[in-house]
Amino acid sequence: MTTCLAGRRAGRLQVRLRDATPDDAETIGRIQTDAIRRLGPSAYSAPECESWAAGLHPQRYRDKMAAGDRFRLAVDMDGWPLGVVWRTGAEVIGLYVDPDWSRRGIGAMLLADVEAAIRAEGHDRIGIGAALSGLHFYARHGYRHIGTYPWTTRGGRVLQACRLEKPLIAGATT
Ligand SMILES: CC(C)(COP(=O)(O)OP(=O)(O)OC[C@H]1O[C@@H](n2cnc3c(N)ncnc32)[C@H](O)[C@@H]1OP(=O)(O)O)[C@@H](O)C(=O)NCCC(=O)NCCS
Repeated sequence: MTTCLAGRRAGRLQVRLRDATPDDAETIGRIQTDAIRRLGPSAYSAPECESWAAGLHPQRYRDKMAAGDRFRLAVDMDGWPLGVVWRTGAEVIGLYVDPDWSRRGIGAMLLADVEAAIRAEGHDRIGIGAALSGLHFYARHGYRHIGTYPWTTRGGRVLQACRLEKPLIAGATT
């Protein structure tokens, strides 16, 4: 799938999605780390973001892929990675967009893609344990805030996170 996103700050951006492979592990780590450090502060303090960003070694993503997690990357027409989403079954585990490319619709494109994949597997519901920095984004996309819970990050600090769910309607495209 290739989509032309009309960016507010950068003219037109051609984005396509592809499966990620173990060779993308370093790239995924860079995107996740940058997104946490630069977009996480909308909801958390700098020390909290550092604790969230701790321990993101490339092997971690390779291990998740080997365990069956499905990763999808958003890339531009030169193949440059812009964002990533991954899931375990019907549960979204991570969704991160390169902060240089945020608010251009890349997160929405990745979310629509993962919703379609989960729906195609026959699930009728998608769930996410999300950082509070993603709450407005998910609310915009029809997710219901089920509750807030303490989340022990890799660096040891306990942050507040939110449980979100959305029913998936069979046959729908978004
Ligand atoms: C959340 C995230 C993935 C959104 O990606 P994105 O590509 O910037 O999102 P989109 O451009 O598709 O945004 C779609 C809509 O969601 C809402 N939205 C997105 N980011 C928002 C923010 N920071 N504050 C308020 N609303 C936001 C807006 O309504 C936006 O539409 P608009 O730009 O026309 O107003 C990205 O900000 C990110 O990586 N954040 C850090 C990590 C994180 O919190 N991940 C989610 C929990 S794991």
